[in-house]
Amino acid sequence: MTREILVIGGAGYVGSHAVEALRAEGYVPVVLDNLSGGYREAVGKAELIVGDMGDAALLDMLFSRRQFAGVLHFASLIDVAASQKDPARYYSNNVAATLVLLESMRKHGVAHLVFSSSAAVYGEPEHSPVTEDAARKPVSVYGQTKCMVEDMLAAHHKAYGLHYTSLRYFNAAGAHPNGSIGECHPEETHLIPLVLQAASGRRRSVSVFGNQYPTEDGTCIRDYVHVCDLAAAHVKALESLWNGSASRCYNLGTGKGYSVLEVIRTAERVTGKTIKTDMEKRRDGDPAVLVADGSLAREKLGWVPAYPELETMLQHAWAWESRMAESIRSREVV
Ligand SMILES: NC(=O)c1ccc[n+]([C@@H]2O[C@H](COP(=O)([O-])OP(=O)(O)OC[C@H]3O[C@@H](n4cnc5c(N)ncnc54)[C@H](O)[C@@H]3O)[C@@H](O)[C@H]2O)c1
Repeated sequence: MTREILVIGGAGYVGSHAVEALRAEGYVPVVLDNLSGGYREAVGKAELIVGDMGDAALLDMLFSRRQFAGVLHFASLIDVAASQKDPARYYSNNVAATLVLLESMRKHGVAHLVFSSSAAVYGEPEHSPVTEDAARKPVSVYGQTKCMVEDMLAAHHKAYGLHYTSLRYFNAAGAHPNGSIGECHPEETHLIPLVLQAASGRRRSVSVFGNQYPTEDGTCIRDYVHVCDLAAAHVKALESLWNGSASRCYNLGTGKGYSVLEVIRTAERVTGKTIKTDMEKRRDGDPAVLVADGSLAREKLGWVPAYPELETMLQHAWAWESRMAESIRSREVV
């Protein structure tokens, strides 16, 4: 029997790779996305329903007409700086709309959910690598929204028997090796796409925020995870919930960190281009080092990253960026 999975936010960066991973494993993904940060083209041949996770009538209609075996929840506003400037929008979209989803799932007896959480729940952790039992001390509204949803999930598990997994990603990176999908945010804030856009000529330079951190080269260190490995973790998490695994949170990271300057140097090697940098002041709430202890996900979910090397992530992301830059150039010529 084919199993239909509802993928909310499946037209976005990580969600579209999960749609591919589900299809590759024989599941039938059905995408619900309001296209605020995603693209119709990103879902490929999967069914796309354009709508909002906070629309109770739409969710009730969907859950009453279809038999979903589970829900993958990627739908979120993701810009940390914007969450500080307009917190109400973030609480409304990321938290209140998730509560609408949980209510509808409960009403219709849909009991399995995998949620995209974030390393942002840890804020500035005292120890590295970070384990799941480290204190949650978010320093942004974005991070708070992830903690609030995690708390709602735990309460729904206890009170109503929801089975859930919360996956705390560190930094998603790369693109699908087949070149069909990749990272494409309307307002890009992530380092790797910005660096590669500087390499392709889509932007003049890339900003480096702070070079006086207590790290070897003075720039921040982050743990990058290939987006296809994140996608694969969702499939494993859902399957292990079906098999009776406990509801809980897992870190998703490789356990190896790279500094901002290491990312830029590796990108120069991969692309063969010189990347211009602008040194800027450090930003509030940027921890010096953010690296995951991902051993729990390996042990409990059997999750082993297939593409743990930064160089591979950059090669895949560069193939995608080259395609994007070329398509923009060809439209300008016409
Ligand atoms: N990209 C990363 O490095 C990273 C790191 C940690 C956590 N995350 C989390 O992973 C998830 C996916 O991130 P991403 O980088 O793919 O972001 P994205 O913006 O590319 O994808 C999010 C998708 O959700 C959709 N969406 C947002 N609000 C919605 C709503 N109310 N109803 C329906 N659709 C809605 C957007 O249109 C978009 O397609 C997010 O929850 C994000 O917080 C991402």
